[in-house]
Amino acid sequence: MNLLKPVATAGLTAGLVALSLTAITAQADHNSEHSIAARIGKVGSVCVEGEECKAPVAAASAAPAVASGPRSGADVYTAACSACHSTGAAGAPKLGDAGAWAPRIAKGTDTLITNAINGINGMPARGLCMDCSDDEIKAAVEHMVAGSK
Ligand code: HEC
Repeated sequence: MNLLKPVATAGLTAGLVALSLTAITAQADHNSEHSIAARIGKVGSVCVEGEECKAPVAAASAAPAVASGPRSGADVYTAACSACHSTGAAGAPKLGDAGAWAPRIAKGTDTLITNAINGINGMPARGLCMDCSDDEIKAAVEHMVAGSK
């Protein structure tokens, strides 16, 4: 009789482990579906951790107005592009990810600038920065390309 107890306990433990694994898996699936939906769901409602949740276009126009002259590529990137390009949101190639950028850089910087201005697939026109000039978008693309080789 005493022999049965450990067996039963082992069986029960295995059952519980299996049960909690199922729960963890279900939870993970839920999380990833949720986060994918959150990431690809609504272009224009991307939130950056630590910042108030608002559309990138609002974030960009709320950026402190520089007295004069075009903003630098780095400034435009931080204000308008990093929401997607530092996180990979919506499948954006991350700044610094040479593997993701190599086939894009191979298309030529001019093509990348045109695509950034007009938009391509999940990449919205001007990265939603409607007050960015063509030169500022160009500078931001060059900043991203230079940092991703
Ligand atoms: C809302 C998210 C989002 C924002 C904001 C955003 N991008 Fe993108 N970007 C993407 C996605 C997604 C792709 C990948 C598109 C594809 O090739 O399918 C992409 C691709 C690109 C590419 C590569 C285009 C190509 O032809 O391969 C460039 C260049 C680029 N973005 C520049 C910018 C610049 C510059 C900004 C800021 C002014 C910006 N992006 C802001 C999502 C974004």
